[in-house]
Amino acid sequence: MTQVSPIHILGISGSLRDASYNTSLLLAAAELLPPETTLEIIDLADLPMFDVDMEKPLPEPVAWFREKVARADAVLISTPEYNSSISGVLKNALDWGSRAPEPPFYGKPVAIMGASTGIFGTARAQVQLRQVLTHLGALVLPKPEVMVPKAQEVFDETGRLTSETTRGFLQDLLIKLADWTKRVNN
Ligand code: FNR
Repeated sequence: MTQVSPIHILGISGSLRDASYNTSLLLAAAELLPPETTLEIIDLADLPMFDVDMEKPLPEPVAWFREKVARADAVLISTPEYNSSISGVLKNALDWGSRAPEPPFYGKPVAIMGASTGIFGTARAQVQLRQVLTHLGALVLPKPEVMVPKAQEVFDETGRLTSETTRGFLQDLLIKLADWTKRVNN
C-alpha cells in the first residue's frame, strides 16, 4: 500500500519527570517535523507495573497504550539512561506491548534517540533498547543515531532545545524515519 495520508508518529518518552530532557527532545521533534507528518506524544504514567496476573481483565491504560502503538504509522522513542540501561518505565511499557494477542510493535517502523546528563548521551541504553525492540519485531531505523550527552547544556530552563547542531541531528532523524516508514508501507 502506498503511503498517501500524513504519517502519524507516536512519541514515547521513557521518563515521567515533569522537566524530562527526553520529553523535551520529543517536544523539539514536534517543531522539526518534515511535511506530511504528525507527532503525538504520550505519557506512560498510567501504565501499571507488568504482572501476568493482571492480564485478565486487561487494565484500561494497557489497552490504551497498545491501541496507540497499533494505530501509529511509526513510533519515536526517547530513552533516558539509567544505570547504563533503559528506564524501568520504558521497559515496563515494552513488556506490556509484547504480550498483546497482536503485538503492536511487530513490523512497526521505530526510531530511537535519547538524552542524558552523562557524557555518553544514552549510547548504552540505546543499544539495549534496540535489542528489545528487535526482539519485539519492530523495524528499528538503523541510522542516524541521535544521542544527546550533557543534556543540561543544550536545553534551556524552559526545556527548549537550544543547540542548532542537535536540532539538525533531530531533523535528519525525522526525515529518515518518514522515509523509512514509507519504504516499509510500500
Ligand atoms: C541516571 N543518570 C544517568 N545518566 C547517564 O548518562 N548514564 C547513566 O547510567 C545514568 N544513570 C542514572 C540512574 C538513575 C537512577 C538516575 C535517576 C539518573 C542521569 C540521567 O541521565 C538524568 O537524570 C536525565 O535527566 C534523565 O532523563 P530525563 O528524566 O531528564 O528524561
